[in-house]
Amino acid sequence: MKILVTGGAGFIGSHVVDRLIQEGNEVVVVDNLSTGKRKQVNKKAVFYKLDIQSKRIDKILRNERPRALIHLAAQMDVRHSTEHPQFDAQVNILGTINLLEHAVRHGVRKVAFASSGGAIYGEQEVFPAPENHRTEPVSPYGISKLAGEKYLAYFANATGLRYVALRLANVYGPRQDSEGEAGVIAIFTRKMLQNEQPIINGTGKQTRDFIYVDDVVEAILVTLGEDVQGIFNVGTGQETTINDGYRILKELTNSQCKDLFGAAKKGEQYRSVLDVRKIRETFGWDTQVSFQEGLTKTVEYFKGGG
Ligand SMILES: NC(=O)c1ccc[n+]([C@@H]2O[C@H](COP(=O)([O-])OP(=O)(O)OC[C@H]3O[C@@H](n4cnc5c(N)ncnc54)[C@H](O)[C@@H]3O)[C@@H](O)[C@H]2O)c1
Repeated sequence: MKILVTGGAGFIGSHVVDRLIQEGNEVVVVDNLSTGKRKQVNKKAVFYKLDIQSKRIDKILRNERPRALIHLAAQMDVRHSTEHPQFDAQVNILGTINLLEHAVRHGVRKVAFASSGGAIYGEQEVFPAPENHRTEPVSPYGISKLAGEKYLAYFANATGLRYVALRLANVYGPRQDSEGEAGVIAIFTRKMLQNEQPIINGTGKQTRDFIYVDDVVEAILVTLGEDVQGIFNVGTGQETTINDGYRILKELTNSQCKDLFGAAKKGEQYRSVLDVRKIRETFGWDTQVSFQEGLTKTVEYFKGGG
């Protein structure tokens, strides 16, 4: 099958592309390399350095005619979205609409969209949060992801396009950007290995549902079939404190760093954990990598230079 992956030079996208190619698919990547890296793009993929907001998306879809679209390109930094909400909406809302309009016109049958289980629900009332939990995002990023889901549902209703919106928990693993604001595991790991002092935002007692990237790739693949659509949480269902992650990483890296706490981050909720029964029951999907094992693999990757 021919599949277009937006954001295929990024952390999750590059793993998705590798796996799709390994399974014999033809892959086309669109990425503007704003955070992604050209060297992460599998050599067997066709690569277009392009913004998802560009008019040239039309020509690419017309020429390539992919059957499925995996839409991962996004402004994905929560803090950046609080400082630049217009930019966030341009990329995540208008960019998504641009892609969907052209995808529908040029015969794409199925879209898998990376939404956010961490940002869409806002402060949770129920733990873990099922897909029908109230959505009250507390950041522009969460709002723009929710809008992306709504536009997908609109296009699906209006045109017969099939879709899944995957509400990803906190993804971690090799190739995650350790310089930005987004991936706390990548940031802690790099700093500990370089003997720098990491700072824990807030008390460190805030919780996240940390899922290893390979388990997310598998979730994307199993939901690509055209017979299913809808919204699915993708996480582990396990609630882990930032302090727990910090402690395990300290052991794995043999770091002597202190436990230093800073101000809490704006736009982020306190507790986050996803109910993943729906994706388990629908597809038989389940996580394969424990937190300890995933962190070990991540540390090995960053030891190799990242
Ligand atoms: N990493 C997580 O924990 C997590 C959690 C929930 C949802 N998500 C979503 O998963 C997707 C992938 O995230 P990631 O962690 O791999 O981040 P990433 O920053 O590594 O990947 C995003 C990719 O999109 C590209 N991109 C950004 N803006 C673009 C634009 N305007 N046009 C074309 N390409 C553009 C970047 O260059 C990058 O390669 C995003 O949609 C993100 O919102 C990630």
